[in-house]
Amino acid sequence: MLKIAKEELEKLIEKAKEGLKNAYAPRSNFPTGAAVLTDKGNVYQGCNVESVISGMGTCAERCAIDNAIANGEYCFKAIIVITKLENPVKPCGMCLHYINEFAQVANHDIAIIMAGSGGKISKSSVFKMLPEAFGPRDLGLNLKKYKC
Ligand code: THU
Repeated sequence: MLKIAKEELEKLIEKAKEGLKNAYAPRSNFPTGAAVLTDKGNVYQGCNVESVISGMGTCAERCAIDNAIANGEYCFKAIIVITKLENPVKPCGMCLHYINEFAQVANHDIAIIMAGSGGKISKSSVFKMLPEAFGPRDLGLNLKKYKC
């Protein structure tokens, strides 16, 4: 299993909680926060962003990844998702595919940490939750430019 240090987990939780506070979720009223830990040790937050146009919003996990990418980081060790529910929730299938895209960029698995509001945590990884997934390497895409 991918090892995430205690301080890294604390930073992920702190940033994901900030994302949770900033979520724009008027349609579902289900705010969600997320954060990614990059291979360089930086943490970028995200939140769900909904829209009056059905299907146009984005999940917190993809927002966090996009935030990291906008800052020039493409390789991730871990991603955390947090909601206000007591029990941890799992990323949706679309987010798992998105996370898998970057597991192929980094050439390693990515830890998926799911946090409930009361401190409950469950841990998995993208290769466990979405085994044998299609990704950019199946098309032989050149990912060298996206260095870690
Ligand atoms: N949502 C996330 O952002 N991440 C998850 O892991 C679960 C669900 C968001 C999407 C949508 O804005 C709202 O929660 C309800 O599904």
